[in-house]
Amino acid sequence: MQAFLDHLDARDPDYALACAIDAARLPAHIAIIMDGNGRWARRRGLPRVAGHKAGIQPVRETVETCARLGLGALTLYAFSVENWKRPRTEVDTLWRLLRIYLRAELDEMHRHDIRFTAIGRLDELPNFVRKELDGVIRSTARNRGLQLNLAINYGGRAELVDAVKALVEDGAEIDEAAISARLYTAGMPDPDLLIRTSGEMRVSNFLLWQIAYAELYVTETLWPDFTRAELLRAILDYQKRDRRFGGIREPLPVENLEHATIPAR
Ligand code: FPP
Repeated sequence: MQAFLDHLDARDPDYALACAIDAARLPAHIAIIMDGNGRWARRRGLPRVAGHKAGIQPVRETVETCARLGLGALTLYAFSVENWKRPRTEVDTLWRLLRIYLRAELDEMHRHDIRFTAIGRLDELPNFVRKELDGVIRSTARNRGLQLNLAINYGGRAELVDAVKALVEDGAEIDEAAISARLYTAGMPDPDLLIRTSGEMRVSNFLLWQIAYAELYVTETLWPDFTRAELLRAILDYQKRDRRFGGIREPLPVENLEHATIPAR
């Protein structure tokens, strides 16, 4: 957190936002559904792929901000198992943009001590994408700062199917811990905060198991327009939430317990 404040100019409007954040209660893991690239392009009379291209800058800014804030993990939904239904040219462009991003950002990842990982059915990706991902995963494996986790060819249901298959293969006893340990995100904390851009009130098959208790932040902003200020506002909003995890905030005072008893017939 201090690293983040130190690199900002005190006259920057984001400085005041950052100062309002409680460093002791940062989300350990933020997950983001980056939506609205197509609409961003359409509003400008541009092809959809122009929206994806414009979506790279907010990825850079978000990753850098999370790293400087000292967050544990950031998961970005880059490509879902359903996204194969899009035109071939759009899908191919997404792979090319991913390659450009990974090549351009590797030094930056090392500079911020970022460990890069990817989740999803990675074995179904084109070879050149797989190779690019593997190279960055290997290269950053010893970094100890933010874990930047890209969900690619990812589906929450597919992940659960894969976890159940692994459970059956292992003949393991089935409980919540055994399932969590076989998800693609094994070892990561569950997201505390799920951000979705472009205003849709859906979770779109993203981290279905892991977001059980995540706080949701939905913004009308389209992904290419998502800024550092909006990320800070989402974190501030998260810090105002009363997280009860299904329990209650205060234990019931003893004198109130009589109201909780079921009257005898
Ligand atoms: C959803 O917008 C976005 C995607 C399916 C792709 C996300 C890709 C990027 C942000 C580009 C770069 C990312 C990396 C990691 C290099 P949409 O196309 O569904 O938008 P729409 O709902 O407005 O049509």
